[in-house]
Amino acid sequence: MKNFMFYNPTKLVFGKGELEKLPTLIPAEVQKVLVVYGGGSIKKNGIYEQVLQYLKSRNIDVLELSGVEPNPRLTTVIKGADICKQENVDFLLAVGGGSVIDCTKTISAAAKYDGNPWDLVTKKAKPQEVIPFGTVLTLAATGSEMNSGAVITNWETNEKHGWGSPLLFPQFSILDPEHTYTVPENQTVYGIVDMMSHILEQYFHQATLSPVQDRMCEGVLKTIIETAPKLLADLHSYDHRETIMYAGTIALNGMLQMGYRGDWATHNIEHAVSAVYDIPHGGGLAIIFPNWMKHNVDVDVARFKQFAIRVFDISPSGKTDKEIALEGIDALINFWNSIGAPSKLADYEIDDSKLDVMVDRAMLNGPFGNFTKLERQDVETILKMSL
Ligand code: NZQ
Ligand code: ZN
Repeated sequence: MKNFMFYNPTKLVFGKGELEKLPTLIPAEVQKVLVVYGGGSIKKNGIYEQVLQYLKSRNIDVLELSGVEPNPRLTTVIKGADICKQENVDFLLAVGGGSVIDCTKTISAAAKYDGNPWDLVTKKAKPQEVIPFGTVLTLAATGSEMNSGAVITNWETNEKHGWGSPLLFPQFSILDPEHTYTVPENQTVYGIVDMMSHILEQYFHQATLSPVQDRMCEGVLKTIIETAPKLLADLHSYDHRETIMYAGTIALNGMLQMGYRGDWATHNIEHAVSAVYDIPHGGGLAIIFPNWMKHNVDVDVARFKQFAIRVFDISPSGKTDKEIALEGIDALINFWNSIGAPSKLADYEIDDSKLDVMVDRAMLNGPFGNFTKLERQDVETILKMSL
C-alpha cells in the first residue's frame, strides 16, 4: 500500500422513511434553498411533493431548477449558478440520480466563482468556496452521493470531464431504497454496470499489497452479481433495492481505494464516447470495459486470474493463467449480457465514422490510466474492438 489519508465528511442517512429527517439535516440558519432535479421522475413518483412538504415545515423559501439532463450540461450549471447569484440562495438540494447531484455540485462552486464554470470543470481554476448542499438519491449507480467528484458535459465542444474538490462532498445524503422502486429496468441495469465498473477500475491497480482491499472489492462485486438478477425479476423488492443501493455508495465513496490509485482509463474512454453520442454512462461502460480488459490482460495476468477465480469461480484446473484470465473476462461479458446490458457500440448505432473524434476527446490530457498507460493507438484499438 501507499501512504494515504482518508477524508469523507458526508453524513449518510440510509433506510426506509428517512426523508423525514430532511428538515433537521438542513442547517438551522438556512433560509433559501434551490431544489435541483431532472426531467420529472420525482414528480411522477411523489418524492417531489414530500420534499416540498418537509421544506415548508421549516419555513424555508424554495426555488427550483428542473430539467437537469442525464449527462448534465454546462448550460444547466450556468442557469443554476445564475439563480443562486441573483437570489442569494444559501443551500442546494439535489433530488435525483448522479446527473442531478453532479450538476448541483458544480452549481455550488460556480455560484461562488466569477469566471466561466467550465474553468472549474477543466481544472483551470480551483473552487475557493461553495454553497453547501445535500442530496436525496433516487437512483443507485454513481456513488456521487458520497464522493466529491462531478462529471459535466460541454455539448458545444463535445467534451465531458470529471472534476472534484474536497469542498464538493454533500453535507448529507438521504438514501431510501424505496425511492428507487420506480427506476426502470434499463436504468437499473446501467446503474449495476456502473457500480461494478467503479469497483473494477479500483481493482486493477499497481500496488503490490492490497489483500484487504481486494477481498472487499471481490465481496461487493460478488454480492452485486448475486443480487442483480433477483432485483431485475422483482424491481419492487425492498431487500434487493437496499443491497444494490448500499453497494453503489460503497463502490465509490473512497472506502475501496485506500492505499492505491485505481486505473480509471475505461471511464475516460466512456466519457469521450458519451460526449460525442450522449449515450447512458453505464451502457457505454458495459461495452468498453471487457475490451479494455482483453487489451490489457498481459499487463498483469495474475491479477486477471485472481479476478476470474475469486469473483466468477472459474475453475483453474488444467488451464494456463492466461486461459483462466480470459475465462474471467468472458464470464463478466456473459453476466452483463444476461442482465440486458449492451455489448457493442453498434447497439447505440455508433459506427467508426467519428472514431477519430472520440479518440481525440479521450486523449485530450495525454496518455492515461494507472494500471497501464494508454496511448492513442491503444484507445483506437479498444474502441475498434467495441464497435
Ligand atoms: O431526469 P429524471 O426524470 O429524474 O429521470 C432520470 C434519468 O432519465 C431517471 N431516474 C432517476 N431516478 C429515478 C429515475 N426514473 C424513475 N425513478 C427514479 N427514482 O434515470 C435517468 C438517468 O439518471 P442519471 O442521473 O443520468 O443516471 P446516473 O445516476 O447513472 O448518472 C449518470 C451521470 O453520472 C456521471 C455519468 O458520467 C453521468 O453523467 N458519473 C458521475 C460520477 C460521480 N460523480 O462520482 C461517477 C460515475 O462514474 C459517472 O461518470
Ligand atoms: Zn461510472
